Amino acid sequence: MAGIYIHTPFCTQMCYYCDFFSSASLTQKKIILSAIIHELELRRDYLGDSSIDTIYIGGGTPSVYSAEDLQSMINKIGTLWNISNIKEITMEANPDDLTPDYLLKLKDSSINRLSIGIQSFDDDLLKFMNRRHNGIEAVNVVKSAQRVGFDNITIDLMYGIHGMSNDMWINTIKQALDLGVQHISAYHLTIEPKTVFGIREKRGELTPVDESVGAEQYDILHNMLEAAGFDHYEVSNFAKRDFRAKHNSSYWSGSKYLGVGPSAHSFNGDSREWNISSLDGYLKGYADGSSLEQEILSDIDIQNEYVMTRFRTKEGVSLKDFTNKFGLEELGRIETVANIEINNGRLIEENGFYKIPTSKFLISDSVICNFFK
Ligand SMILES: C[S@@+](CC[C@H](N)C(=O)[O-])C[C@H]1O[C@@H](n2cnc3c(N)ncnc32)[C@H](O)[C@@H]1O
Ligand code: SF4
Repeated sequence: MAGIYIHTPFCTQMCYYCDFFSSASLTQKKIILSAIIHELELRRDYLGDSSIDTIYIGGGTPSVYSAEDLQSMINKIGTLWNISNIKEITMEANPDDLTPDYLLKLKDSSINRLSIGIQSFDDDLLKFMNRRHNGIEAVNVVKSAQRVGFDNITIDLMYGIHGMSNDMWINTIKQALDLGVQHISAYHLTIEPKTVFGIREKRGELTPVDESVGAEQYDILHNMLEAAGFDHYEVSNFAKRDFRAKHNSSYWSGSKYLGVGPSAHSFNGDSREWNISSLDGYLKGYADGSSLEQEILSDIDIQNEYVMTRFRTKEGVSLKDFTNKFGLEELGRIETVANIEINNGRLIEENGFYKIPTSKFLISDSVICNFFK
């Protein structure tokens, strides 16, 4: 069981909130594609003979590449590992790239899941965030993708944005539901210091969004999507039956994965590796491994990571699995913390699992950190 993540580090235009590693100059697009394909070859041993269950092409904006270029990455993976039982091949795409012609070509490729970054259907908010599309384009693109035959579509939405009222949020969720997509990821806006929003907030040009507004919008999201038949299975993720994100779910269950491309992270159970967040640094160092940093995980890191990823999911922490992995003494330690959190109403125990109730997912970080060693 293993997954592969490919990071495509280009965007036609940078959004004012985003600090994912990406370049707005596309001049090195071709050379980075060749390097990614070469890096897959060089790092084959990281996953050894594991068969590949999922591939995720993210970014940045993978849709700056042609369908043929994306397919060439997948083909290379197929020559290096067994992908005959692959379950999911996802690509992230920006709505403005998804022309009908491009969608047809993508449908002919091996990609079987589209993740479309819509963020909002509100034109003013989209402009405020420096997105390239408008609300009508977003609706039309999802419909075109469905028309060409994509039957596993997820869309990204954002809330807790400056100037977004609850009514605007309700309207965005209603439009998302009308589209009949299989999966929705919805993120509370995080202000990252080095982004335009981060700089504007620091200068006092943007007033931070009140926590209570974010919490209300979280409740709206959770209630509307659950009422529409979506399973709120992870802090930011909602799926129709059988449509949970398989690749991301493997991150949350501790499976190993190889990440290639600038800034991509890899994990094999014992260590984490990540590539440098620089196009030139990556090109210079990927072949001899000097673009890679590594962190060997201590027993404490492994346990902290275990509770963090499990608690972010609806299923939570299995007491049996936890005891098998970390022993009875450690179980005793987390039981003490759990009893306090249960009394505080922030945790439940159900059928041998500790879980953060989905209605409390928004504050999950403040619960989870109390379980860290
Ligand atoms: C790698 S990014 C985007 C992929 C694609 N380029 C796009 O923009 O549609 C994945 C998602 O992370 C979310 N995101 C990025 N920065 C964020 C931030 N600062 N706060 C909350 N969500 C964020 C957005 O919803 C975005 O679609
Ligand atoms: S949200 Fe997507 S398009 Fe916008 S800067 Fe981030 S990766 Fe690029």
